[in-house]
Amino acid sequence: MESETIVTLSSFLVEPNPRPATEAERAQKMVSPAFGTVFTDHIAMIPWHADRGWHDPRITARASLSLDPAASVLHYGQAVFEGFKAYRQPDGSVATFRPNAHGERFIRSCERMAMPGLPVETFIEATDRLILQDRAWVPTHPEHTMYLRPLMIATEAALGVRRAQEYLFLVQASPTGPYFASGIRPIAVWASREYSRTAPGGTGMAKCAGNYAASLLPQEQARSKGCSQVMWLDAKEHRFVEELGGMNLFFVLAHGSDKVVVTPTIEGGTLLAGITRASLLELARERGYRVEERLVPFDEVLSAIADGTMLEIFACGTAAVVTPVGRVLSNEGEHVVTEDEQMGPVSAELRSALVSIQRGTAPDTHGWMHTVPGTG
Ligand SMILES: Cc1ncc(COP(=O)(O)O)c(C=O)c1O
Repeated sequence: MESETIVTLSSFLVEPNPRPATEAERAQKMVSPAFGTVFTDHIAMIPWHADRGWHDPRITARASLSLDPAASVLHYGQAVFEGFKAYRQPDGSVATFRPNAHGERFIRSCERMAMPGLPVETFIEATDRLILQDRAWVPTHPEHTMYLRPLMIATEAALGVRRAQEYLFLVQASPTGPYFASGIRPIAVWASREYSRTAPGGTGMAKCAGNYAASLLPQEQARSKGCSQVMWLDAKEHRFVEELGGMNLFFVLAHGSDKVVVTPTIEGGTLLAGITRASLLELARERGYRVEERLVPFDEVLSAIADGTMLEIFACGTAAVVTPVGRVLSNEGEHVVTEDEQMGPVSAELRSALVSIQRGTAPDTHGWMHTVPGTG
């Protein structure tokens, strides 16, 4: 079912928005854009049909979509998405962070949800073309970025429970400030034993809409306990720490006079394989830390917090970058990792290494940055 069609940049039809935001409107919206609330003038759009594959790519005015009430996505939830960022570079050009890795994960998500794979080249071209069109919306503020949200939905009007024969791929762009309203101060997390994110053999490794729908109630429960994120434990035994609602987790443990950087393994297929997680693992190894990807028992986390060997916990993801975790709450009570309002030294070191590459102030020795053609 995967289409061979590779849509090229030159084949994108550009239909400029007849009523784009004025310069003053744009400037006003970009003063302090809360995550996911401000959108640019255009979207990228590519339809797929079982007979035609990907066709008619367009950059067009951002507007409401028209869907048949029987569109499969509305009933059976075939919807996958991605989230990555574009950064203004010191020379004024715009670069995205690891778009290949995001494009590859998008394909894996599509496969799991029986949706057609979008070639990575097309994924990158669509986002490049959108960024080029809306480059005035890429923030110059040093703490703001442009968040990109690729999405694929099943649009076929058919109520049979089977893979749809028509899809729509979209990309929208959203200038954004820091993810947490509190800035990068330590957050509290709620370890849920009542709910599970996903079971072995489920959809945990996919960035599919349903995973997030199922997380909303536990996320509300976390908030009611004074926490900003739910911490997921494994679905089988609720024994091992997996990740947060929208971020991966790292633990910095004391080992004699050394520090060990530990993160839950993704081998079981129940966690989202974060691109930030993978990048921080590389940066930590390069900086000489002993790094472990393994099962992390929740009991080990609690006892290390209690005996003082848990030096730091941090969450990471595209939206939150690196955010310290100050407190873990669970049925057992409150476990304070740090009272400090500042980030721990390892979290701060890794955050700074990552952000410097993304902002173009440190050399990109890994080839992670992709300059958007035409923005230089
Ligand atoms: C459930 C979940 N885990 C982890 C992450 C972090 O992934 P990434 O670093 O690729 O943004 C995200 C965000 O995309 C997420 O939604």
